Amino acid sequence: MIDLLDFDGQASAVLELKDVCFTIQKEGEDVNLVDRANLKIPRGHFMAIVGPSGCGKTTLLKTIAGLNPESAGALFWDGRNLSEEGDFEPSEIGYVPQFSIAYDPLTVDESIEAATRLRVKTRDAEDLDHRIDHVLEETGMTAIADRAVKVLSGGQKRRLGLAMELVSDPKLLLCDEVTSGLDPRSEREIVRLLHDLSRRDGRIVLSVTHSLAHLELYDSILVLHEGRVAYHGPPELVTHYFSVEDSEEIYPKLATQPSERWRESWMKHQEAYYEKLERSRKRAIEAGALHVPETHDEEDPEEAATVRTPGFIAQLSTLLSRRWRIFFRDRGQVFLQLAILLCFPLLVILFSDKANAPIPSLSDSRQENILVELKEANDVYAAWAKVGSAISGVVMFQVILLSLMGSNNSAREIAGERQIFEKEKFGGLRPMAYLSSKVVFLSCLVAAQSVWMGVFVNFFGPFRGEFSQHLMFLLLINGAMTAICLGISALMRTAEQASLLSIYLVGFQLPLSGAVLALPDHIEQFTRPFISAYWSWSGSIEALESKAAFAVDSVISTRPSAHDACLYTLLLHVGAGLLAAWIGSRRHQWD
Ligand SMILES: Nc1ncnc2c1ncn2[C@@H]1O[C@H](COP(=O)(O)OP(=O)(O)OP(=O)(O)O)[C@@H](O)[C@H]1O
Ligand SMILES: [Mg+2]
Repeated sequence: MIDLLDFDGQASAVLELKDVCFTIQKEGEDVNLVDRANLKIPRGHFMAIVGPSGCGKTTLLKTIAGLNPESAGALFWDGRNLSEEGDFEPSEIGYVPQFSIAYDPLTVDESIEAATRLRVKTRDAEDLDHRIDHVLEETGMTAIADRAVKVLSGGQKRRLGLAMELVSDPKLLLCDEVTSGLDPRSEREIVRLLHDLSRRDGRIVLSVTHSLAHLELYDSILVLHEGRVAYHGPPELVTHYFSVEDSEEIYPKLATQPSERWRESWMKHQEAYYEKLERSRKRAIEAGALHVPETHDEEDPEEAATVRTPGFIAQLSTLLSRRWRIFFRDRGQVFLQLAILLCFPLLVILFSDKANAPIPSLSDSRQENILVELKEANDVYAAWAKVGSAISGVVMFQVILLSLMGSNNSAREIAGERQIFEKEKFGGLRPMAYLSSKVVFLSCLVAAQSVWMGVFVNFFGPFRGEFSQHLMFLLLINGAMTAICLGISALMRTAEQASLLSIYLVGFQLPLSGAVLALPDHIEQFTRPFISAYWSWSGSIEALESKAAFAVDSVISTRPSAHDACLYTLLLHVGAGLLAAWIGSRRHQWD
């Protein structure tokens, strides 16, 4: 194999794969999805990765990006062994996945601005504007900067995906199927754009594609077959290598022999084809068609030095302002939140008629007739029981409604945008900044919902206890369910799974609380610590004042727990939810 490092005495191979494998376990056996891949790619190179569906193109791209840890072999970037000396810097690499990484309600401009603010520490507002304008221009989107993402065409969305990766000016750009599903004209435009992006500053662009059209625009073509490299050389020689007339015949040809045979024969020819690649590269540089700084040190040092990942506070404030913007742009969501906020307390009032009835007292004076006295006492106890069970029921109803709001607040919050989050994490987003933005945003919802519920029901309703204690337990139940469902959202693989689990969790709060239906003691002892609704109900009941407390006491089968036990247990639930959310957010969860 010739060593591309010899070219002009300079290190021209900047990305190198040496016998790289990515192995998974299938039915107890090791299966190599990428098998001993050997590649050398110089600066300023535009390479297509092609091959039949399922041959491992995305897997190879992810292995290069570091998203799939290689199980054998080594990857070198700029002479650095990535597995031993640390991965790519987030700003060094751009990865454009097959899915859209932009939020539909935002505009093109806002999406690029958020991407820049999250990935690049800019000097000032002018620097930020300059970067955004540069990227818009580079990707040909200046004219549609104000357009909402949801109305973009397929081709425009792909451009936006590219633009959002270009904000950190990466030296290695990996693109997965950015042309699939496009009409031939848009496809050519995108391939041309990728080609142009590889002509500047020595940037390497690797593009996975199904399409065998426009191959002439690439510097080299990599043909993969069952995870093995079958060819990596100039596009004009690919048909010759496979002895076919047309590039469309390559895939059927691949199927004619096992991939191991293709790999072996390629290893024999690789050296000669790499020589040809080097020659055409040299010609391109001499003709001025390719500008390649010989080393990265040659680039504008000021420019290179500015690409640093922003700090925690900067990322947090970017995420928060983006979250609120998305929230207010989604009219349906705002309407639903308002409807829930306003209607749930009304519902509580609607059901609290009986709880509003006066609570009679036992008379101190003795009746002459014992029967009359017994009847009177009986009537008073009956009235207590009626009002008491109504008050207990209303408190539980409030608690359950706030649990429901909690699950509605956060069940989809992380799971619904997991792929975008993973992508942003890969680009340098701190999981802690992300999680904090969720906590701040959700805390605002929790505060609005619980305070309004508490104030409204206390003003119009039957609650006869200490207001501040009751409000605290309403805040805590909503906060606990929001935090736990956020944890579920961070741990589940899909938004549907997270929603379903969260709804079940709320559904079981009522029966397992033991407040309405008594549970067998041995079950209750086991379940109670986990049932937030019980602790909030119990704390609220504890806060009731004299007569109401007597009335409730006379009917409930379950004694409320002490105030401090309720408070600390609910705080523990909040903590457990946040811990689960933290663990889930840190975990890598690419599809
Ligand atoms: N983490 C994984 N665990 C198990 N199997 C996997 C994993 N990742 C990929 N595969 C399997 O490896 C094979 C290659 O997948 P990959 O997504 O890389 O194919 P591809 O060439 O990109 O296909 P397409 O052109 O359809 O996108 C597929 O059979 C896929 O099901
Ligand atoms: Mg793929």
